[in-house]
Parts: sequence; C-alpha cells; structure tokens
Amino acid sequence: MSISKNVKLPHMFYGGDYNPEQWPEEVWLEDMRLMKQAGVNIVSIGIFSWAVLQPGPDTYDFAWMDRLMDLLAEHGIMADLATATASPPAWLARLHPESLPVDENGARYSQGSRQHYCPNSKAFRLYGQRLVRKLAERYKDHPALAMWHINNEYACHISQCYCDECAREFRLWLQRRYGTLDELNARWGTNFWSQKYYDWEEIVLPRKTPTYPNPGQQLDYARFMSDSLLDAYLGEQHILKEITPGLPIMTNLMGAFKPLDQFEWAKHMDVVTWDSYPEPTAGGPVFAAMQHDLMRSLKGGEPFILMEQVTSQVNWRQQNPLKRPGVMRLWSYQTVARGGDGVMFFQWRQSWAGAEKFHGAMVNQTGDENTRVYREVVELGNELKKLDAVVDSRVEAPVAIVFDWHNWWALELDSKPSRDVLYLDQIKQYYSVLFERNIGVDFVQPDADLSGYKLVLAPALYMMKPGEADNLEKYVQGGGTLLTTFFSGIVDENDRIHTGGYPAPLRKVLGLCVEEFDPMLPGQRNAIEVSGLSAAGNGEYSCSLWADIIRLEGAQALASFKQDFFAGSPAVTVHAFGQGKAYYVGTQGEAAFTSKLVGSILDELDLSAPLSAPSGVELTVRTGRDGSRYIFVLNHSAAQAELQLPEGSFNDLLSGSRFTGSLQLAPNGVAILSAEG
Ligand code: GLA
Ligand code: ZN
Repeated sequence: MSISKNVKLPHMFYGGDYNPEQWPEEVWLEDMRLMKQAGVNIVSIGIFSWAVLQPGPDTYDFAWMDRLMDLLAEHGIMADLATATASPPAWLARLHPESLPVDENGARYSQGSRQHYCPNSKAFRLYGQRLVRKLAERYKDHPALAMWHINNEYACHISQCYCDECAREFRLWLQRRYGTLDELNARWGTNFWSQKYYDWEEIVLPRKTPTYPNPGQQLDYARFMSDSLLDAYLGEQHILKEITPGLPIMTNLMGAFKPLDQFEWAKHMDVVTWDSYPEPTAGGPVFAAMQHDLMRSLKGGEPFILMEQVTSQVNWRQQNPLKRPGVMRLWSYQTVARGGDGVMFFQWRQSWAGAEKFHGAMVNQTGDENTRVYREVVELGNELKKLDAVVDSRVEAPVAIVFDWHNWWALELDSKPSRDVLYLDQIKQYYSVLFERNIGVDFVQPDADLSGYKLVLAPALYMMKPGEADNLEKYVQGGGTLLTTFFSGIVDENDRIHTGGYPAPLRKVLGLCVEEFDPMLPGQRNAIEVSGLSAAGNGEYSCSLWADIIRLEGAQALASFKQDFFAGSPAVTVHAFGQGKAYYVGTQGEAAFTSKLVGSILDELDLSAPLSAPSGVELTVRTGRDGSRYIFVLNHSAAQAELQLPEGSFNDLLSGSRFTGSLQLAPNGVAILSAEG
C-alpha cells in the first residue's frame, strides 16, 4: 500500500492510537506483524509522549520515535503523528506552575494525570510549539508521515480555566469584540444589579459568585474559552502548515460536546475526526448516529474519520460491560454508513500499567492472537478493504436539523424559566424520529443555506443572532417546511430579549405570539388534543416540561391543551407562509406524539426511507462521485430481519452475494447494497 499524503483517502483508514513507548522494542516488531494481519493501515502515535520526547526544558530524545517511524514505513503503515502537547511533562509544571489550569474557586489543578494546562498559558504555548517545530522539522520528509494530530480531545477534561492569564486574555478578547466599554455595558445589560464597568481592568472571569454571574458575561466566557482552545490549536497548526504544507492537519473532536463550537473548529481542520464511545444501552446507537451526522455536517458533508472507539469495554463509566460479539463490527459500519471513511480505536495494545489498563484495545497486553476481540479486529480490518468504492462518497440527507453551539451555551445558562430544557434532549427527540424512520439528516447552522432541504427542524432555538430569523423566513417563503419549538427566538447573541413579543423574530413566519411560558414541575403532566393531523395522528397525548400560552396571528391550531386555565388554547400550530409552512410545537409532547407529528410532515413531503425495513434496522445511502448508490443496512435488533428489495438485483459489497426480491439479515448483521447493471 502506498503511503497516502492526501485527505481524499484511497482506502478506509483502519488502526488506532499506538503508544509503544509502554513496551520494550521487541514487542514493536510483533505489533507490526499483528497490525498487518489485522489490515491496519494507520496508527496515531505520540499523543501522550511529550515527557518521553523531552526529558527536560532543553533536552530532547527523538531516537525511539525515529525507530518507530522507520518501522512503520517499512511495514507500509501510515503515521498520524501527534504533536504530543496533550499532556505536559512534570518539569513544565515545576518550572511554570502558572501553566496549570485554575478552577472556578481559584484553586490550581495539579499535574499527574493529563491535560493539566491552561490554554492561554504562555509557557505551555512556548514549550509546546517549540516541540511541534522540532517534530515537524525532523519528520517532514519521512515516508510514514501521513497526517498531523494536534494535541488530543481539547477540553475533554479542562474546558474552563479561571487563571489570571486567562483573565487578561479575556479582557483583550472583549476589547476586540466590543471596542468600547459602553458597548460592552450595553451588550451585557450591566445597568442591572450594579454591574456597570468603568475600566477594563474591573472585568473578571465568572469565578464563584454569590449568585448568577451576568448572563452576557457567562456567554462570552464560553465563547472565549472555545476560542482560547482553538487559538492554542492554531498556534501549533500554523507551524505545521509552514513546515509541511499540504499534509492534512486535524485534532480529534468529541461529537455533541458542549465546550467547543465545533463548526468553528472544523473550518481549521483538513478532515474532521472524532471519538465515539456510545452508552452501552438501547439509546447508544441512536445517539452515536446523531453524532456521526453532526460530525459529518461540520464540513458540509465531507467524510470524517472515526479516530477512536473501543473494541470491547471502556474503564471510565460506573460499570463497563463488554460490547457483545458482532457489536463492534455493527457500530463500525454505522460509522461508515453515516459518512465515515475510517474506523480507528483507542488503543492498539492494551496497557499493562497506568490509568487505562482496564480499557479495551485491539490486542490485549500479551498480544494473544487467539482472542475474540482480536479475531473481530482482524475480520473487520480485512473486510473494510472491500470498501474502496465507498471512500469519499456522500450521505444523502433531505432533512436538516439546526444546531448551534452558541444557542446551546445560552439556553443552558442559569436563571431560566426551567432548568430542565436541555438542548441535546430537545434535538435528540426529533432526531430519534428521523432515525427510526431512516430519513437522512444533516446538521446545519442557523444561517446556513437551507434551500437543498425539504424539511428543516429547529428545536429550542432560543438564541437567534442577526440574520438568522430572516434566513429561516426566506426558506419558508421559498417553499420550505420549518418546524420549531417552545422557547425559540427569545434572545439575541448577547442573551438579551428580542423585544416585540415572544418569539419576536419568528412571529411573522410562525403566525403567532407567545404570551406566557408555563414550565411544568418534574412529573407534572398536561395533555393535548390533536385534531389537525391525519386521522391516524389525531387524539389525545400527554405532554410535560413546558406549556406556551399562544395567541394565533394567522397560524392554525393543530392541537390544543386539555387542562389548566389555558385549556383549549393552541399547543401546536401550523402557518402557511409564502410557498411553505411553519410548524410550532409549544410543549413537550410524549414520544408518540412527536413521532406522529414528524411522521405526518414527512408523509406530506413524500419523504420516505430508501427501503422499507422492520423496526431496529438502520438504513442510510451514500452516493459516489460517479453516481453509484450504496445502501447500508444495519440490523440493531435481536431478531433476524427481512427486507423487501425493489426490483432488480443487488450486490452486497461485504459478502459478495447477490440478492433479488428480499434480503435476510441476522442480528448485528450488515449489508452494503449496490444495484447491479
Ligand atoms: C479519550 C482519549 C483517549 C482515551 C480514551 C478512553 O477518547 O482521547 O486517550 O483516554 O478516551 O476511552
Ligand atoms: Zn488559564
């Protein structure tokens, strides 16, 4: 295999984090043999190697890394070379204690685990970037070098730092954003609670305060931390771009991870990669699917790489059950089905010491070839070689869900009508309906071009920044179908109310006004009487969490509340606007209602699954550049699944079998069908 220097991968990437500094070098040779046998074509190296690469501030040891890189090249295995800055060595903390992060109480973290750095620390940046330059200079022409892996899972453990260096940077960041203190005071609404600032130096980080810190300040602090971490990334990226222009550079993201505005981050990554560790519960595959879709969407549908998953079990949940036989393969194909062009693991060989010795790996500590896990690893790696044709194809998605990190931060700030309105919960319930119905979904930012989508869902879009409401309105005007839900269109980018009656910027397109919100207590229920859907959807459903008291201004009620002083008032509405329609859901309906509502909209839009499949079977379609369509069929259910196929015959890329009429799939079974002829 030739070593790829291109993001457009010729093959599915297969491999994992490789930390061979844990082992004597004779083990490395055996690792190469086992990797080749397993079809491994890339490994991520050096992620946590800073202390081993640099014993002291002025001493480096690259000899072992030289041997490792050579060994990989000899065996035709690509190196995804890390910049090693994810875990600073002890000497840095000793020499520069101020490089350690500080918590909201002002207490400093210690070294001795990992990620113990403040992203704004000058010492961390200086020593880290010095190392990056040395690595890049040393390996820039090495045949094994295929891709750069900057740091690792930024913000995974430390997403906020409250140190003095951060405070200084925060003030500068605010000055760049607002220019004057008057502007900042206006944006943060500091005339309330005596928070007015007269000097930039008075502004501090939102450390521990007697009660809610200013919401505008909290929101800007969230933005500032995401930007600070990104800036740390960019500091390293800049060096790599200078020394190895043309080589792909990325860091591994974390799916629906709140601290980082990953749409912004992805602009600076040549390929999106992310780490997926689904809950070992029934909801695991749905949420994993959602996050694959989100990660694929960060770069407008370009394929991503799954940089980490586990073969068997993690070691960081309360209990860590094994993935059952076949599940690792099934979930790996779910990745590919949703746009992944690579499947990788943490880690290659299980540790024998340290914090992750009970975390699963591709081979165990003894390198035993005769284990279930290694056998599954070998089978998968060799099977993925059959998917060259799928590489660089795109996932079909007629529906978009609006997703915005700034909205997430704002929605979940304190001092709200209810603390129980959580962004991911709101997104997930709509995503789940589309997942169950096997309708492809992209995630888009609120200002994205929506014209290619038949349906756009924008649950809990509390914050609407300038231009976003116009964008949604234009979409509906032009014939699009929009659905949004309670507590949307409420504040601007500084968490200030959009005046003009809730939800002011959406009032026109939704044809309604929300006079009051009535959040419900935990366990409290109301009910809605649905009368505006098709016969199958009408009837009574329970609702919880929230009730909007709605006044219609042109919209039509599809459902109304049954109880309380607002009984009979609209709960769910639709408004014909321009060429399109805007739906509004003013409560949290039970799952059956959400499914009926979204289902009836999909039916009306004539949106259906690529095949008809029994429940528990996941379907997606990837389309190649040449127009070939690959239908992924994944059986998550415990039963044999039977699917009726459309006319013609289909070839399964995995088994090589030909199917006509119907397809039988065992539990955990996977097929990738392409039409013949
Ligand atoms: C994260 C990290 C890895 C490892 C795994 C364990 O994804 O990036 O280094 O700790 O978790 O699940
Ligand atoms: Zn700091």
